[in-house]
Amino acid sequence: MTPPLQQPVRRSALRRRGTLVAAGIPIAVVALLAGAAGPAAAASAGSPGVNDPYFPLAGNGGYDVEHYDLTLGYDPATGHLDGRAVITARSTQQLNRFNLDLNGLKVTSITVDRAAASFRRDGQELVVTPRHTIGKDREFRATVTYAGIPQPVTDPDGSLDGWIPTDDGAFVAGEPQGAMTWFPANNHPLDKASYDFTVTVPQGRSAVANGVLLGQTTTGGRTTFRWRQSEPMAAYLATATVGTFKVEQFTTPGGLRIYNAVDPREAAAAAPVLKKLPSVLDWESKLFGPYPFRGAGAIVDHAPQVGYALETQTRPVYDRAPDLGTLVHESAHQWFGDSVSLTTWKDIWLNEGFATYAEWLYDEQHGGQSAQKTFDELYTTPEDDELWSFPPGDPGSGEHIFEAPVYSRGAMALHKLRQTVGDRTFFRILRAWATDHREGHGTTAQFIHLAERQSGKHLGGLFHTWIDTAGKPSRP
Ligand code: TRP
Ligand code: ZN
Repeated sequence: MTPPLQQPVRRSALRRRGTLVAAGIPIAVVALLAGAAGPAAAASAGSPGVNDPYFPLAGNGGYDVEHYDLTLGYDPATGHLDGRAVITARSTQQLNRFNLDLNGLKVTSITVDRAAASFRRDGQELVVTPRHTIGKDREFRATVTYAGIPQPVTDPDGSLDGWIPTDDGAFVAGEPQGAMTWFPANNHPLDKASYDFTVTVPQGRSAVANGVLLGQTTTGGRTTFRWRQSEPMAAYLATATVGTFKVEQFTTPGGLRIYNAVDPREAAAAAPVLKKLPSVLDWESKLFGPYPFRGAGAIVDHAPQVGYALETQTRPVYDRAPDLGTLVHESAHQWFGDSVSLTTWKDIWLNEGFATYAEWLYDEQHGGQSAQKTFDELYTTPEDDELWSFPPGDPGSGEHIFEAPVYSRGAMALHKLRQTVGDRTFFRILRAWATDHREGHGTTAQFIHLAERQSGKHLGGLFHTWIDTAGKPSRP
């Protein structure tokens, strides 16, 4: 009598609550996609987007960020943020002008290689004209000083993302667009970079970002936290969540450095789940290959207005105490989504289908129901159910990227692959995907190609049916 959609809906429902409230790719590829975005006349101006069909203004062309050094101060009482971003980038073309993405906030100054640059604002585009034209293939450094009260963005699906104020700080999660609400960025997963964060908050609050904590110091009633994310990260996966947190830090027997920050109001509910984090990461490492990053952990906030969790790199951020399925899901994203990143939001099933299938596998291998059973139950869903409303490989617009066809039908596609190639080959494919594209990017076409190479089978028909074709497939 289990309702067929029970398990997947649990995940969806968790995320959808927010909706109710408000409702190494090669540089050449970056340049290629970016080039296609702008008219040929814009010979040496960087383009305002990277040609993402769902988010045309996300990211910018003409350069590739190597490193963000962010220095932030946040006052939860007033909601005021001040920031300085030092962005080290390499040009992929000659640039007399380039864009960053920044939404809201007031920019007070910009320098490029120490010379004052002029700039103007145009919606989310921050258009920078350096004093001197930047040659092609040059490293340059842009320093942006800014301040204001950050406003989250409302995504096409009605959910909020970005810097979202809470009663004791801010829940900071940027998928797909919100990074630009708190720092100027090349805001598209095509451009990954390393990060340093220096965040100052009132004493007694914590600022929790990605990677490893380098240190913290308190003076004059304010505490500064220094974090370093040394492996490449997409801007949407950056966080600097602020709140009153109970912190625990330890190193697992396997050598992972864990830093957990938990809102005391969620601590009792979170404890039994967080206790399993080391074993979940261990289990996933056995399945998907070595954990891809230097730091790990969780941020469990009390932010009921958010309605979703996000796989922020190394340290997912939860809007409430997660259940075990959600912990497994966000942890699996560290391999699928974070280490192996999207090149276009249209491929979102490569993130969500994989993380959802990890939940099915976890259940199967921990005394719960088999993935086959989960698949079979889902397949009984009637043809007019939203599960079949669009193919996972083509959500149609940014409005649909977090819906059931991406999560559940995406996972069903992986299960079909497993049935077709057998367990040994299937798990080899998953591992090869995470290994071959580690710290880089992957596309649906590359995944299919890899699966065909590993299995020696033609899989075009299978993926066509399960990833590309609208409606309920006629056979399970
Ligand atoms: N990627 C998140 C996850 O699956 C979910 C998510 C992030 C989300 N941002 C969102 C869902 C906005 C709905 C709306 O864990
Ligand atoms: Zn997810």
